[in-house]
Amino acid sequence: MIRLIVLIAAACLLLVALNAEAGNPNRGKELAEQVCASCHGMDGNLVLDDDYPKLGGQHADYLVFALKAYRSGDRDNDLMSPFAQDLSDQDIRDLAAWYSRQEGLIDLRIR
Ligand code: HEC
Repeated sequence: MIRLIVLIAAACLLLVALNAEAGNPNRGKELAEQVCASCHGMDGNLVLDDDYPKLGGQHADYLVFALKAYRSGDRDNDLMSPFAQDLSDQDIRDLAAWYSRQEGLIDLRIR
């Protein structure tokens, strides 16, 4: 019986850990609204001019990679870098989950 309880507890912990890893698009949406939408739009498709990349439909992995690069300074841009400084790893995963789920970039190989 004790073994079963330990097993169930371990399974629950694993689920919590996996969930944190995945990124929560609803929380990402809230962050996007507060911080990112003025430049990128809520759905990542606002293009103020050629300097502003589209985020909508971009691969989540790439968004995570790019945001971490701005945060660490590997990638530096006067407009963008300041907004990445205070993001936690979880913020970054949530934002990536939100923007990657929006309409936007299409992969021509699979259409
Ligand atoms: C003041 C305007 C501004 C705000 C606010 C802003 N960005 Fe950006 N963002 C930019 C610009 C300009 C670039 C292009 C920078 C460059 O050329 O490296 C960019 C680039 C990016 C990129 C790289 C895209 C690519 O294709 O490589 C990502 C990802 C990104 N922004 C996400 C965000 C997120 C998430 C937020 C909110 C936390 C945010 N941005 C807030 C202006 C902004």
